[in-house]
Amino acid sequence: MLELKSVFKSFHDGESDLHVLRGVDLVLAGADSMALLGASGNGKSTLLQIAAGLESPDSGEVRVLGRPLATLDERALAMMRRRQLGFVFQQYNLLPGLNVKDNLLFQRRLNRLADRDVWIDELTEVLGLGPLLNRSVEVLSGGQQQRVAIARALAHKPQLLFADEPTGNLHDTLSRQVMSLMMRLVDESGCSLLLVTHNREMAAFVNRRLLLEEGHLHAME
Ligand SMILES: Nc1ncnc2c1ncn2[C@@H]1O[C@H](COP(=O)(O)OP(=O)(O)OP(=O)(O)O)[C@@H](O)[C@H]1O
Ligand SMILES: [Mg+2]
Repeated sequence: MLELKSVFKSFHDGESDLHVLRGVDLVLAGADSMALLGASGNGKSTLLQIAAGLESPDSGEVRVLGRPLATLDERALAMMRRRQLGFVFQQYNLLPGLNVKDNLLFQRRLNRLADRDVWIDELTEVLGLGPLLNRSVEVLSGGQQQRVAIARALAHKPQLLFADEPTGNLHDTLSRQVMSLMMRLVDESGCSLLLVTHNREMAAFVNRRLLLEEGHLHAME
């Protein structure tokens, strides 16, 4: 469950202020899924970062799993992110110095979950990570890094999953398989999915599509 109420965010850019979010309202229930579309630079990633507690809004309220983020201290926020949230970053943000396996299992281990179960085996298989497990993430190609980033975000079965262009570097067949994996979390584990994509076919997998334009969200279709 995710709720944003009247969220504003500006960045100071030299002389001028860039008003990226100008009163964004959004409600995403458990077992529901939503895609954000919008032109480059419209603030989609900014909205995700704020919703996941990685950045603060200038004003407005963000509630994650029923808790207002503004009332959580750093430790409580970190704990919530670790246990209940998953985030596929647009720039992957893999943990340097760790191999693929340790990246994949990072959040699971923080949650004291076993290294292997049927879900991990399935993620490894679908995303083709088997041959990569012992490789250092720094030497991976863009598409390989994206596959690791997806697996890492899904590995601990988060209750709220943020995915920022998760299939931008993958071919169509694999992109559809990734969407199916994410939708299984939604349907079978009650996860809420907030997806950013410019790909209409991927956006069609989720329940609702919203357009972020001029700082506001608009329903599509
Ligand atoms: N930390 C920051 N400091 C200054 N400006 C920023 C910062 N983060 C984002 N911006 C600006 O805010 C605007 C929205 O950026 P954002 O990354 O959210 O867009 P986006 O919709 O995700 O774009 P894309 O589709 O290209 O990923 C851009 O003009 C960007 O330059
Ligand atoms: Mg972005």
